[in-house]
Amino acid sequence: MLEQRLRNLGQDHIARLLNSEGSPATRQKIVRDLEGVDLELVNSLILAKGLYCPTRGELEPADVIPATFASSKEAVASIEHGRELLSRGKVAALVVAGGQGSRLGIDAPKGVVGVTPVEGKSLFHLFAEKILALKNRFGRAIPWFIMTSRENDSHTREYFRENGYFGLDNGEIHFFVQGMLPSITEDGKFIIAGNGGLFMNPDGHGGTFMALRRSGSLGMMKGLGIEEIFYFQVDNPLVKVCDPLFIGLHSLNRAQMSSKVVRKTTFEEKVGVITRQGDKTLLLEYSDLDDAVRYARDAAGNILHWAGSIAIHLIRRDFVESITEHGSLLPFHRARKRITVSDASGKMTEIEGIKFETFLFDALPLADRSITLEVLREEEFAPVKNLTGVDSLESSRHMQTSLYASWLNRLGIEVGNGISVEFSPLFALDFEELNLKAALLPRAIEKDTYFG
Ligand code: UD1
Repeated sequence: MLEQRLRNLGQDHIARLLNSEGSPATRQKIVRDLEGVDLELVNSLILAKGLYCPTRGELEPADVIPATFASSKEAVASIEHGRELLSRGKVAALVVAGGQGSRLGIDAPKGVVGVTPVEGKSLFHLFAEKILALKNRFGRAIPWFIMTSRENDSHTREYFRENGYFGLDNGEIHFFVQGMLPSITEDGKFIIAGNGGLFMNPDGHGGTFMALRRSGSLGMMKGLGIEEIFYFQVDNPLVKVCDPLFIGLHSLNRAQMSSKVVRKTTFEEKVGVITRQGDKTLLLEYSDLDDAVRYARDAAGNILHWAGSIAIHLIRRDFVESITEHGSLLPFHRARKRITVSDASGKMTEIEGIKFETFLFDALPLADRSITLEVLREEEFAPVKNLTGVDSLESSRHMQTSLYASWLNRLGIEVGNGISVEFSPLFALDFEELNLKAALLPRAIEKDTYFG
């Protein structure tokens, strides 16, 4: 059956391995790799159907609620509304953590990388403490959904188990696994991997939507009474998980999918940009921007499309239900990548392969309503993408310490030059909470200090 389908799709070299030519182990691996894969879909991608097309037509800068709104009188109602939704248990957190820490030189899930400036806590540990702090504050657990990939699912689960779920209840954390797709050669053929199975790649964070549905997590959210999903990426330690202002604004505006942005620092910064076309909000990935959009300037000579995505979104649960009801609606992006395979003589060699993936933010134009909120980079965005330089472990630790030091400075407490400070979210989740503990703090900080 599978053999015949593969033949029909021109993948005879794989079909042959499913009968006499392949060892039982190879057959088993191939069958397992293709389990749950929609072969007709893959075939249409090979034929270039359903692929992402760069947007044509005039793009306007996005309508953005400025960062100054947060401290305005009008913000109070939104913050209150966000808090109310949290205390009524209407919000879930969701992190996409399908990636490995390979760019950081570790062969493990990225979430286990130690990132905090003094304690070196891992990303997962830090997020867990933020969620626990919110649970303590609002008196309601926040269900936390963690998307893993086949590559790192068992390692991720094990990591949480070994660490006692970082103080959260095991039942409050829900792992689900994203889908995989076969990578192909330039001429559209599946590739045999070193282990004898197929060379597969995760289907991109756009796969979150279908994975939520297939795994039963979406149904579980409904059962729990969840209305809003707070989505974030595993690489940003400064994320304000379930920020009440963002939740309140999004919900009061009856938005289906909303985004947080920072002001881009350079035309070339590697962040997606939020733009508008008519009444549709779009997010264009940095690699898809053409120069006319990337380098466009406003009347004052500044970056016209300045709204850089920090990959934090609020998504209504019923919006996810509607866009997954008849399968995924997201277009596929086609990307080249170097793949190591063994040739006919068993020698390892590198070839140019192609992978297909979907991006979660391509759902933005499907939303009837969306808001975009500007936030301050120094407060909310210090991603760990590289070992050194821009968006690195080094720069992120530095930004985390600077933020904590700025809270202390506001309380009149000096922090010595080159000194690192860190607050556990359980000690103070934000400046307001720290302010309540001001009496417990020293007058000056002269050595690296952790407040736990
Ligand atoms: C990403 C965004 C970019 C945004 C920037 C902000 C994309 C394509 N681009 O860039 O618009 O401005 O972050 O930091 O996302 N992931 C999965 N499964 C997958 C693929 C990715 O879980 O199949 C997760 C990764 O674990 C990571 C996140 O998605 O948490 C981002 O993926 P990555 O490909 O590293 O995107 P960036 O180049 O960092």
